[in-house]
Amino acid sequence: MDQQYFTTPIYYVNGDPHIGHAHTSIMGDILKRFSLMHGDRAFYSTGTDEHGQKNQESIEKSGLSADAYLTQQSEQFRKLFHRLNVDYDFYVRTTHPSHKSVVSNFLLALYEKGLIYKKEYSGLYCVGCEQFKKVSDLNEAGHCPDHQKAPVLQTETNYFLKLHPFQEWLINTIRSNDDLIQPEFYRKEILGLLTDPLEDLCISRPKSRVWLGIELPFDADYVAYVWFDALLNYISNIGYGQNPEFDAYWKQVTHLMAKDIIKTHMIYWPIMLYAAGLPAPFRYRVHGYWIGEGGQKMAKSLGNVVEPNQLLDRVGTDALRFYLTKTMGGNDAQISESLVIACYNIDLANNIGNLHSRVLKFAKKTCNNTVPSPASLSNEDRSLQAFVVQVINREFDSIDMVRFPELIKSALEVADRLNQYYNDTAPWLMVKDENQRDRVQSVLYVMLDCLGLLFRFLYPVIPGTANNALRSLGLDPIPAGPHRQVFASDQLPKGSVLGDAITLFPRLDQ
Ligand code: MSP
Repeated sequence: MDQQYFTTPIYYVNGDPHIGHAHTSIMGDILKRFSLMHGDRAFYSTGTDEHGQKNQESIEKSGLSADAYLTQQSEQFRKLFHRLNVDYDFYVRTTHPSHKSVVSNFLLALYEKGLIYKKEYSGLYCVGCEQFKKVSDLNEAGHCPDHQKAPVLQTETNYFLKLHPFQEWLINTIRSNDDLIQPEFYRKEILGLLTDPLEDLCISRPKSRVWLGIELPFDADYVAYVWFDALLNYISNIGYGQNPEFDAYWKQVTHLMAKDIIKTHMIYWPIMLYAAGLPAPFRYRVHGYWIGEGGQKMAKSLGNVVEPNQLLDRVGTDALRFYLTKTMGGNDAQISESLVIACYNIDLANNIGNLHSRVLKFAKKTCNNTVPSPASLSNEDRSLQAFVVQVINREFDSIDMVRFPELIKSALEVADRLNQYYNDTAPWLMVKDENQRDRVQSVLYVMLDCLGLLFRFLYPVIPGTANNALRSLGLDPIPAGPHRQVFASDQLPKGSVLGDAITLFPRLDQ
């Protein structure tokens, strides 16, 4: 039994949660559920990043105390994750004392190793990114391309972490492991950034300017740079320095994120770890950015912002989870309420949901509310079962966030094939002929059995609905802890009682 550890970025609380935040936290939840179904133990963390200038400015604007503001905002994220059925094991808040002490000890260890030094520095700072920018990072207008704002020139004395001594090691680490960063083009992007000598990382901010942060253990006039503090959540969550099982968790960590923050995660973070004598992360998985329908960046001024709570009111948790999983790969993807509703109606209401409802209703009526017990199955039945088992096992054996759209495509292929078989065999016609009764039983058994496989397989993506569907087929819901799911045919117990004929996905008006 392996121990897996999945993390999401921790989100700034300077605004309300965005569909992008919802996305990464759902992806982590799906990976966790698949891991448990592989029999692994899985630990999953998500949460909020509560320090730094950007959050500080929002606190100052809000008129609330720092504590009141941060708690209120962090709760918005937590509530949304509950609505999204995100089953995290640890909810990070970087203002928590246990995180603060890890940051403080970590800083002290690097300071004592002589890797941190003080100097005056002038640089262009983007508050949106909470990062210094090089001129080559800016667009033609001299603005940060992510925040469309000119960075501000800052001249300050600060503490710096030496990066250069670790550059060769980092390049070799990334080059020698194809699986470390996926999709591949993000790995290339990072290797490209590493062709220039690395500038040392500014790891402090003077308290006179940024008071919202963790005090440096070796200089009380400064707080830690928010990224330095935030990245350490990945080890403070699993009890670095205290938990005797820390190594077991850290060994197989998968960091999930969108493309916006790969530099901090893939350059600064592994160097921080290596400098402190810890192994580099095991795996990074990156997704693209959600943009509005038509391809424009979401912006309040364009009226195309997709607000996750509003969308949930309209389509429900599992439909949103399904759309996000199906649509987002390594590149940017589009979202709007109408795109989500169209996908819901086509894939969930008309395809998977309708198939489930037709088969279940007919089976309940013709087989006295029970799973039929056919005398034999035909070659056609066996070949359908073999197809379903093969497709599902192929996908189940290669679970990876960067393959999620293919996983959904395969699930829909299974549903299409089941629909085709059901329409071709047309048991509602055969049932009129007394001699065909056993054949009807076979068709229904195969359909119910394959639907059971499909819903078990889709459980991590649409957990609530899949469990309802499994109950309706007379099957147990998926266990919450580690267990090994076996996808083989004929697992549906013959003669067991079918559940209620529920409608899993009622059609929605556009
Ligand atoms: N606080 C830092 C992360 C520190 S992690 C040690 C931060 N916060 S953030 O609030 O800006 O969150 C960025 C992350 O939120 C992205 O990497 C992604 O996971 C998610 N998303 C927020 N908006 C997004 C989109 N429009 N599209 C997809 N995901 C994006 O950076």
